[in-house]
Amino acid sequence: MSLRLIANWKLNGSIEFNHQWAEDFFKNFSGSNFKSIGIAPASVYLDHLIKVIGDCGIEIGAQNIYEEESGARSGEISATMIKDLGCKFSIIGHSERRLFFNESNKSISKKLNQANKNCVMPILCIGESAEENQRNITYDALELQINEALKDLYELHSLIIAYEPVWAIGSGKIPDPVEINSIHKMIKDVVQSRFPKVGLNLVLYGGSVNSKNASSLFSQENIDGALVGGASLSGKEFALIANVLNELS
Ligand code: PGA
Repeated sequence: MSLRLIANWKLNGSIEFNHQWAEDFFKNFSGSNFKSIGIAPASVYLDHLIKVIGDCGIEIGAQNIYEEESGARSGEISATMIKDLGCKFSIIGHSERRLFFNESNKSISKKLNQANKNCVMPILCIGESAEENQRNITYDALELQINEALKDLYELHSLIIAYEPVWAIGSGKIPDPVEINSIHKMIKDVVQSRFPKVGLNLVLYGGSVNSKNASSLFSQENIDGALVGGASLSGKEFALIANVLNELS
């Protein structure tokens, strides 16, 4: 699966929003490669959105899954459940989950395992904090997150990594695309050399992506696509980003 552009709607949306978003997106999207696009709504709307989007090829996935399959964990959802609904992917380890829900690399590793077992494509988020960035230890911070997330997994059929500097999320600031490109190259090298049994498909960039900065990002060799938060809440704006990706790939 080559999901290159994923909308992360976070804690936003409604039944009406799903309908309006789809109308705006389809009116403005000029490409035909629907299969490269994914949407992650709040989990209560997964089933509804699957029906609204129909069978054009756009994939619907979750923003999070639990680290086990079933049991006494009120409020959680599992990889098996989202698979049952028809979801093909789940975001795992988003920085907001690490920050506000104390998600550890150990728990993220278990979630990757659950996704793998259920053939749900994991979109693993990694990224340095503002402080790590200022201290020039971005590479070390990312390597640590990759190692901790992957070291206990014997095998991972497929994986997409989203590099999301925490300080770039929702801030309107993005790193220099050339810098992002070299970080993506480093991520690919680390995973391929240290974890040969992990099938790394793509490395996406996330953090303040919009239709204006999209071409400067997508023209870089190792930026395979994007995970988009705020700008994905408008069906039109997200379609414009998808159009840029289409033109450049
Ligand atoms: P943003 O969020 O596009 O609003 O910066 C990206 C994300 O958190 O995945």
